[in-house]
Amino acid sequence: MDSKLHKECQRRRADLMGMIGVQAAAIIPGAAQKIRNNDVHYPFRQDSDFWYLTGFDEPEAVLVLLPDSSGSRSILFCRERDLKREQWDGPRAGLQGAIDDYGMDDAFPITDIDDIMPGLLEGREQVHFPLGRDGEFDQQVIGWSRYKRKQQLMPEELVSITHLLHELRLIKSQYEQQAMRRAAEISARAHMRAMRMVKNVTNERELMAELMHEFTWSGCQPAYEPIVAGGANACVLHYIANDEPLNENGLVLIDSACEFACYAADITRTFPASGRFSAEQKAIYEIVLAAQHAAISTATVEHNWDAVHAAAQSVIIDGLLDIGILSGSREQVLDTKSYQRYFMHKTGHWLGLDVHDVGDYQVDKLSRQLEAGMVMTVEPGIYIAVDDQTVEPRWRGIGVRIEDDVLVTKAEPEILSRLAPKAIDEVEALVQGE
Ligand code: GLY
Ligand code: MN
Ligand code: MN
Repeated sequence: MDSKLHKECQRRRADLMGMIGVQAAAIIPGAAQKIRNNDVHYPFRQDSDFWYLTGFDEPEAVLVLLPDSSGSRSILFCRERDLKREQWDGPRAGLQGAIDDYGMDDAFPITDIDDIMPGLLEGREQVHFPLGRDGEFDQQVIGWSRYKRKQQLMPEELVSITHLLHELRLIKSQYEQQAMRRAAEISARAHMRAMRMVKNVTNERELMAELMHEFTWSGCQPAYEPIVAGGANACVLHYIANDEPLNENGLVLIDSACEFACYAADITRTFPASGRFSAEQKAIYEIVLAAQHAAISTATVEHNWDAVHAAAQSVIIDGLLDIGILSGSREQVLDTKSYQRYFMHKTGHWLGLDVHDVGDYQVDKLSRQLEAGMVMTVEPGIYIAVDDQTVEPRWRGIGVRIEDDVLVTKAEPEILSRLAPKAIDEVEALVQGE
């Protein structure tokens, strides 16, 4: 593990232990290896909470945190070294590796967890763990606690750790910001490659291959299923079939990004396959771009979460009224929410170890104030269904979304994904290969 991540994980564990207090313990399980069939597994992706606290990338692992005023302890249950298995599946850290390379104070075989855990929980008043996320694990924790309860040495309370841990994850450290800059930069390069290559391909899947090329060469994997949507497919918000021919007069919407060191980017660009926006495509694109600019400039510590959406929504409503796609007054549009026919999703979400990252959007039922270190996507869109009889035929089947990753700072927002062009002239130039 690199030494920066090592230090980060130690600091995070110390922060979390400070939050739960010396009378408590915390138990955080890693992800399980999921079987696809027989000897074939789905690609392993570590659980984000567990990764955040350990940087440990093996299945079958459980972290235990034992805060103590005279020396807190981090303990890892993990797989033991097994040279025969390692010949098939690759190296394991083992117990000594968990201590030497991952900064654990102690490590035990995962196979012994039922015997050892009750002793570790002895005398603790609360056990914090991801209560409710996995019924089987809930039962295990109850079992470990009950075991001691019979001997009156039990934890009194089982508590969900999710809120505390996710509040920590919401504010990104310098290390995390750097990882997210890298994820965004690689992802932006993938978008640029797709724009450059569109003239050489005939099908959505071929463009998807160009994205994968960039991710794979950079040692990354997609952070989520890519959306490569030609023409009206862009109006299907979660379109992932990515297997239709591209129409040379249509737009192409690509929502795709990779994760770097488990940190996700999330970028959408929309561009004309021909290299020239038609008048209608341009009109819609300009509204979305203006909405995105307005929303990004609101992503500051002076504003709350809802203000970002409100800024985008306002520009989209005015724009759609101007070009006659919406009718009535601004107030009527807001009252009836008629704009939601064309802009039916929120303007963004937190971004981090998960693409839809953790953290509350409200505090005490009020929209959350933005803080330096938060990272969010800003992704307004307009989608006009191909069979929408309420608009002139020339507008039908146009779908545009523009999505960037934005770091809130003490000053101006930093657009992590700024390398991916979105100004009309820059997009056209790149697609045309000028
Ligand atoms: N790519 C998923 C999203 O934009 O939310
Ligand atoms: Mn997004
Ligand atoms: Mn996206």
